This record gives sequence, C-alpha cells and structure tokens, in this order.
Amino acid sequence: MRVLVAGDRGYLGAVIVPFLRRAGHHIVGLDAGWYQGCDFGPVETDYEQRVGDIRDAHVNDLRGFDAVINLAAVSNDPVGHLNPAATYSVNAHGAVHLGRVAKAAGVERYLFSSSCSLYGAAGDAPVTEESPFNPVTPYGESKVMAEDGLAKLADDDFSPAFLRNATAYGSSPRLRADIVVNNLTGAAFTHGEVRLQSDGTPWRPLVHAEDIARAFLAALEAPREAVHNRAFNVGRDEDVVQIRTIADQVSKSLGAPVTYASAAGPDRRNYRVAFERIGQMLPAFKPEWTIAAGIEELARDMREYGLTAEDFEGPRYVRLARIQELLATGRLDLELRMNGSAA
Ligand SMILES: NC(=O)c1ccc[n+]([C@@H]2O[C@H](COP(=O)([O-])OP(=O)(O)OC[C@H]3O[C@@H](n4cnc5c(N)ncnc54)[C@H](O)[C@@H]3O)[C@@H](O)[C@H]2O)c1
Repeated sequence: MRVLVAGDRGYLGAVIVPFLRRAGHHIVGLDAGWYQGCDFGPVETDYEQRVGDIRDAHVNDLRGFDAVINLAAVSNDPVGHLNPAATYSVNAHGAVHLGRVAKAAGVERYLFSSSCSLYGAAGDAPVTEESPFNPVTPYGESKVMAEDGLAKLADDDFSPAFLRNATAYGSSPRLRADIVVNNLTGAAFTHGEVRLQSDGTPWRPLVHAEDIARAFLAALEAPREAVHNRAFNVGRDEDVVQIRTIADQVSKSLGAPVTYASAAGPDRRNYRVAFERIGQMLPAFKPEWTIAAGIEELARDMREYGLTAEDFEGPRYVRLARIQELLATGRLDLELRMNGSAA
C-alpha cells in the first residue's frame, strides 16, 4: 500500500517506517522537523520525506495514497501544558484537518495514534475501549477531541481507526528519555542509579515501540470491517506493571541500585488497561517484546552510541527541553509552527 506517515521523524515514526517498509509498503513521510538532528545511531532516510505541518496539508498532497498514519503531535503531557491552545491546534484540529483532506482525496483508511492517556483518572478497574474518557491534561483532552472529530468523518468510503497506545519503551533512532523504561535505563546507564521520582507503586501499561509498529501494520492490512471507526488499546496484559517492578528489572540488568527521590509519594497517573479487543479483532498483532528484553536493547544501544548524561537530560532526547529550546531560539512560534526552513 502507499501510505503517508505524518510524524515519521519522531520516536515512533523512526521505528514504524522501517518496519512498514520491510513489510513491503511504500511510505512517504510528512513532518515539521522538530527533532531534526536529534539522532541516536543511524536513521533511515532513503524514502520521500516531506517537510510540512499537518495543519497546512492540502487535498492534492494526499492524492494517490491508500492510507494515512498520523503520528504527528505534541506527544506528551509536559509539552502539552506549555500552550494548551497549541496542543489542541496540532493534536485535535490538525489531526481532523488531515482526516478531512485525506477523505476528500479519496484515501480510505486513517490510522490515528491515540493514547491510553484519554482514560485519565480511571480508578482501579482495567479500562476497556468502552470505558468513559476522563482526561486530566490538555494532551489527554486533545486525544479525545481528535477521536471525536475523526469519528464524525467515518462513512462508506473513509475508515478512521484509533490506536490507543500504552506508554512506549525501547530504542529508536529518535530516542526519548522522557518515558519511564527509557528514563530509568538511561539514569542507570549515565549515573549508575535507577532514580525513582515516585514511590514506585503506580501501575503503567507499557508497549515496545516495535510492537506499536506491529499494531499499525496489523490495522493497515486488516479487512475494513475489523477497523472501521473502531478504537484499540495497544499493548498486552503482561506489560501492565508497577514502576518499581521496572526499576527492579533495570537494576538487575545494569547492576545499579534503585534510589527514591526525597519525599517520593505515589504520582497521580495510575491506571490499568485491558487489551482483549486488539487480540480478537486484529489477530495478526502478535507482540514480541518483553520489558526485560527492551531494557537489554536500550542498554546495548546506549553503550554502542555512547550516550552521555548531558544528551540524556537535555534537548537531544527530552521533548520538553527540545521544544523549549526551539521556542527560545525562535525556530518555533507559540502556535508551534516552524519558522523558516525546518530542515
Ligand atoms: N511515545 C509514547 O509513549 C506514546 C504513547 C501513546 C501515544 N503516543 C502517540 O504516538 C504519536 C507519536 O509519538 P512519538 O513518541 O513518536 O512522538 P514524537 O514527539 O517523538 O514525534 C512526533 C513527531 O511529529 C512531528 N510533528 C509535531 N507536530 C507536527 C505538525 N503539526 N505537523 C507535522 N509534524 C509534526 C514532530 O516533528 C515529531 O517528529 C503521537 O501522537 C503520540 O501522542 C505516543
């Protein structure tokens, strides 16, 4: 299939694009270039990479594609808080605009990278795709708004689907240090300590970046009726774990002690997710990674690419620091639009 991947040059895109290409799909990328140069090892670039903002996409840009995968976003809570209006603009209005122009261009399938964050403060019972939304941040709200707007576009010729990813982990040519498994592994690697900011009791649903790629591939190739206007929690039951379990695994793998920040208490984000539907509706989705294997992979790549503490804690791999740097230097404006040439 000919697939436009928006946000192809971010953490997940840099894993998903090579994965889809190996499966035989023809990929064209569209990315604003926020992380240009923030590489972690070799990055695949031998495919058409367009530079642009999803909010400016035209019908003509979308002609000839069989599907759109939209990963382009303000992609975590801390960045989402910087300017909530810009977060809604990119994540909700931008995502729906891209859906509208894709539909007008005759694209039949639109896979939206959503998040389990839209369940928000969900209580103790595992959330299913039918659970109510209770987002607690602008980022979570923006995902609800995007799903809602895209669902309204669904008809006989246009099938949006919503992949509500758990928190990702694992290596990527666009590494992120601000997600829990990567963060704890990087702290152990660069400082010799597994540093916990909470008491380690909260539960987190986790999924390896490459298993997210498997979910997108399964949803891309599934029959229309399996995905049409449907949401899927992306992850698996075994990988809903407490933070302290991750810390213990990192500690064992890297031989570094676990330390707790002073006055560490439980944090507010604490929820469990049920993953039955994706297994039933998309049987081609077979996750292969374990958290332990992901920690080993991260540690190996950190050694191979010589990760430094400065890079790990700075704009190269921390999204908030990178966006603040782009804002401070005027390369991004407050609406999160790139000024001048992004590349
Ligand atoms: N990483 C996770 O743990 C996780 C979990 C759940 C959901 N998601 C979702 O998956 C998607 C991808 O996440 P990621 O971790 O790869 O994020 P990322 O921040 O690493 O990458 C996002 C990419 O989108 C691009 N982008 C941002 N705004 C754009 C715009 N207006 N137009 C064009 N390009 C734009 C950026 O330049 C960047 O390359 C996001 O929608 C995110 O919300 C991620």
